[in-house]
Amino acid sequence: MKQPVPWARAAAMLAALLLLTACERPPAYYTQGGYRGTAMADVQNPRTFQAKVDANVVPDPSPAADPGGPKATEVYKNVQVLGDLSAGQFTRVMVAITGWVAPQQGCLYCHNPANFADDSLYTKKVARRMLQMTRRVNSDWQSHVQKTGVTCYTCHRGNPVPARIWFKDPGPRTAQGLAGNKFGQNTPAREIGLTSLPFDPFTNYLDQHEQIRMASTTALPSGDHQSIKQTEWTYALMIHFSKSLGVNCTYCHNSRAFASWAQSPPQRSTAWYGIRMVRDINNVYMNSLVDVFPDYRKGVTGDVAKTYCATCHQGVYKPLLGVSMAKDYPELQGPSPEAAEAPAAKPAEVAAR
Ligand code: HEC
Ligand code: HEC
Ligand code: HEC
Ligand code: HEC
Repeated sequence: MKQPVPWARAAAMLAALLLLTACERPPAYYTQGGYRGTAMADVQNPRTFQAKVDANVVPDPSPAADPGGPKATEVYKNVQVLGDLSAGQFTRVMVAITGWVAPQQGCLYCHNPANFADDSLYTKKVARRMLQMTRRVNSDWQSHVQKTGVTCYTCHRGNPVPARIWFKDPGPRTAQGLAGNKFGQNTPAREIGLTSLPFDPFTNYLDQHEQIRMASTTALPSGDHQSIKQTEWTYALMIHFSKSLGVNCTYCHNSRAFASWAQSPPQRSTAWYGIRMVRDINNVYMNSLVDVFPDYRKGVTGDVAKTYCATCHQGVYKPLLGVSMAKDYPELQGPSPEAAEAPAAKPAEVAAR
């Protein structure tokens, strides 16, 4: 028999190598999430999972402070948010937030050394809003964060600017006119898994309140029906969800009926509240800081940095793999004046699906 030419064999081997390197070396862990045969399994690779464990080590809590004694408002001059704390608890919070947000810069990242009551640094004004936001999440969004809660560390991890934030993205500058208009897509973006789907699904869904719906409930197009374009936006957002949590679609859906709530695992409801919580964080807290942040911290359209799922989750199904730091910091629970507009109960439209 005629031998294949060596270069053909080499090319075949190279092709096989390229194909196989896309696969992960066994073993893999499977966790069955739905009925048998529904392929609703969560697949994790023990090697990459170890890297996630290493990246989510939680700093030790500082010793608890005495809630008795003089109040912070009696001792200090300009305490607007943490007024319900004792002076001891107040100092504990200052030391903790320095470690979580500005460990290299120290107290002076937010304070004028001549007068700690002074509000001239923008970072102090932002931090005050962040204290309100953290309390709001811990007190009013337990539908998402449960009793696990969040601290500044959940997002900041020792950095003044959290590693995972987003801005409105007008896309790359292209030639003017119809030919140059990419209609918000066809520019692979890291945030949505390097797909060519719309690269900024966040403005519509996590800043504004557009419906995340694409499956039609009627045979013929109706008002409820969404366009192919909206379908693409939905998929882009869903890829962000999966990547942010390090899970596949079946963590939240039964893929035979993506829209059906009755067939979805409970995690999808948790995610539903998460979407509303993120909108609250961005609308009530982040966007209101637009005149406080300096220009160099803003996006190309002049907007402030915003939160999405990855800001807290950073690649794992529960931030910090579910370890609660907030339980050691009762100072970060408490009244949030914005609670007037508390999250509405799950609307009927969701229950009906
Ligand atoms: C990330 C920003 C930030 C860092 C870092 C920080 N603080 Fe503060 N500090 C604040 C904010 C915000 C307030 C006002 C809190 C309020 O209004 O309830 C404040 C208020 C204070 C006050 C009260 C001043 C007054 O008279 O009103 C003192 C004292 C204080 N901080 C001390 C410290 C010390 C000491 C450190 C370092 C260990 C520190 N802070 C680190 C943000 C920060
Ligand atoms: C849900 C996520 C989240 C939590 C929780 C959070 N932050 Fe932030 N923080 C952000 C985002 C997003 C920004 C905007 C990034 C930027 O500065 O451009 C930010 C910015 C800041 C800044 C401005 C830093 C700079 O250099 O511009 C300070 C200071 C700050 N946060 C303090 C805090 C403190 C203190 C807490 C806890 C009481 C806290 N944050 C909790 C998301 C969070
Ligand atoms: C972390 C949970 C989560 C993950 C992971 C997730 N989804 Fe979703 N998905 C949701 C939630 C929650 C909604 C409904 C949002 C709403 O109603 O505001 C939704 C809605 C949808 C819809 C619209 C259904 C309708 O009513 O028309 C589709 C389609 C969809 N997801 C597909 C996907 C795909 C494909 C993936 C994987 C790439 C995925 N999802 C990953 C939580 C998730
Ligand atoms: C402010 C921080 C924060 C943000 C932002 C956030 N989450 Fe979460 N999420 C949490 C915490 C904390 C938990 C753990 C709650 C618990 O212990 O059960 C959690 C849990 C979840 C769970 C349940 C996981 C499980 O296995 O039970 C899902 C699903 C989820 N988040 C999806 C999302 C999605 C989707 C987004 C973006 C729309 C999002 N989260 C944004 C903090 C956050």
